Amino acid sequence: MTDTTRRNILALAAAAPAALAVGAAAAQSPQSGSGILPGTGRAAVVTGSSRGIGAATARRLARDGYAVTVNYLTKRDLAAQVVRDIEAAGGRAIHRQADVGDAAADRALFDANDEAFGGVDVVVNNAGIMNTDPFADMSDAAFDRMMATNLRGGFNVLREAARRTRDGGRIVSLSSSIVLQRPAACGPYAASKAAQEMFSSALAKELAGRRISVNAVAPGAVDTDLLRGKGSPEQLQAAAAMTPYQTVMTTGLRRSEDSAC
Ligand SMILES: NC(=O)c1ccc[n+]([C@@H]2O[C@H](COP(=O)([O-])OP(=O)(O)OC[C@H]3O[C@@H](n4cnc5c(N)ncnc54)[C@H](OP(=O)(O)O)[C@@H]3O)[C@@H](O)[C@H]2O)c1
Repeated sequence: MTDTTRRNILALAAAAPAALAVGAAAAQSPQSGSGILPGTGRAAVVTGSSRGIGAATARRLARDGYAVTVNYLTKRDLAAQVVRDIEAAGGRAIHRQADVGDAAADRALFDANDEAFGGVDVVVNNAGIMNTDPFADMSDAAFDRMMATNLRGGFNVLREAARRTRDGGRIVSLSSSIVLQRPAACGPYAASKAAQEMFSSALAKELAGRRISVNAVAPGAVDTDLLRGKGSPEQLQAAAAMTPYQTVMTTGLRRSEDSAC
């Protein structure tokens, strides 16, 4: 499983959200198409899916016939809009607030999904934040907040996924191309994303025998709120040039105008 996981990380490096969703759903989805496919009877939990890559992934999973639990931290309206869009297209979705860094909140999130949809088959461990301060300037509070979300939150979500994902399911975590690039910046963020790859490799082995695949995907630069204010267009393009797609990708969604990140 380690080799498989590694191959998938490399193959999906810089992949668009659609590829992430396909990675999550491929083995279970009857086929991809433009509209919502008939319900598969399967359900997905996507953390941090009120906007950005998570929202695009939630919409894509819904198109593939999954009932989706849309998670958010503060942007309830955006999460509700994702749900409305999925329902308008004929799919099923709910939204639930949960800080992924709070284990009890994560249990409640998965409880809500199980109550609504009877269980979970796909978990996308997506919620994350990025602080790009250099080491010398990063405050304790900023470091702790990023680790509470990315590291503790990633662990909390994968623990629930390990306990609850039905046999044959898919678990996908968001790493970043920055882990392989190792630039002279973003060290703490990159470390929190590298952890997702270690988590995934280990969990894949723990769940071996239950036909549950566990992978980390490592997108390149995607034009979301996460990147807002994190460099000039030239710097972002330079970072994107280091990925196979060589360009800043988009999710096809509008950015939130009042990002908290
Ligand atoms: N964008 C990129 O270039 C890029 C590249 C590689 C990897 N990634 C990774 O991809 C993932 C998604 O990034 P993105 O660009 O889509 O980010 P984004 O547009 O900033 O969206 C972040 C999402 O995470 C949610 N969130 C933040 N903190 C949370 C918490 N403590 N608990 C629950 N939800 C929380 C936000 O909810 P609210 O809306 O309620 O605040 C939002 O839905 C992250 O893990 C990121 O590290 C991004």
